[in-house]
Amino acid sequence: MNASYSTYRALFDVSFSVPAGTIVALLGANGAGKSTVARVATGLVAATSGKVLVGGRDVTRTAAHRIARMGVFHVPEGRGVFADLDVEENLRLALRRRVGARHLAEAMERAYTTFPVLAARRHQQAGTLSGGEQRILSLAGVLEAAPKLVIADELSLGLAPVIVDGVYEGLKAIHARGAALLVVEQQVDRALSLATHAVLLARGAVHWQGPPQQARAEMEELLAAGYAPPV
Ligand SMILES: Nc1ncnc2c1ncn2[C@@H]1O[C@H](COP(=O)(O)OP(=O)(O)O)[C@@H](O)[C@H]1O
Ligand SMILES: [Mg+2]
Repeated sequence: MNASYSTYRALFDVSFSVPAGTIVALLGANGAGKSTVARVATGLVAATSGKVLVGGRDVTRTAAHRIARMGVFHVPEGRGVFADLDVEENLRLALRRRVGARHLAEAMERAYTTFPVLAARRHQQAGTLSGGEQRILSLAGVLEAAPKLVIADELSLGLAPVIVDGVYEGLKAIHARGAALLVVEQQVDRALSLATHAVLLARGAVHWQGPPQQARAEMEELLAAGYAPPV
């Protein structure tokens, strides 16, 4: 895929796949283009050329909500919740859109069972949740929608390590239910400990892709070549 923001070209022939059941780590320094890949893959930013395929089907020009209905979900960077609404309202909005009104009640109950921290805070304004709880709320909204692929963008950003553990447990729960994952991270060790394949982006292009065990060495080489370091 290729992508631009007006005249700024952000992606250059980025190509990789996330086969069913796998976990791919998408790594790279700040500004490398990771979030742009996530946006193009989920229909939020249009590719200027190239293709996005979901299960062999071309979705390059498919609307974002349709791609979501096909089971490809984006957990965006940042908090990704409606700060003024409470936990229950956030969950209801996310799930209604994803599972439909008919399955809403059961999906809500399952989400609360899987993430008791949310059940205890049903009526708390989402904006007052901790950063980790907000990420868990975002994940709960996709877990119950039987995702095929979840693209999680910088889940660990700004969170204490012990909190990140909890958020990653949520991610593992999603994988255990059969979803493939594309894990976008600057905290590379987190992502690599989970991943079955790694893709290293630099300045909008795939610099390297291969087994997670080799990713560290590749990143160090990039760093030696003068690219900004991932944290
Ligand atoms: N909405 C936008 N408008 C203009 N430029 C953008 C926008 N979003 C990202 N960019 C630019 O595109 C490049 C890649 O950004 P991004 O995909 O967010 O990188 P990453 O997620 O790897 O940090 C950066 O140089 C960034 O400044
Ligand atoms: Mg980003």
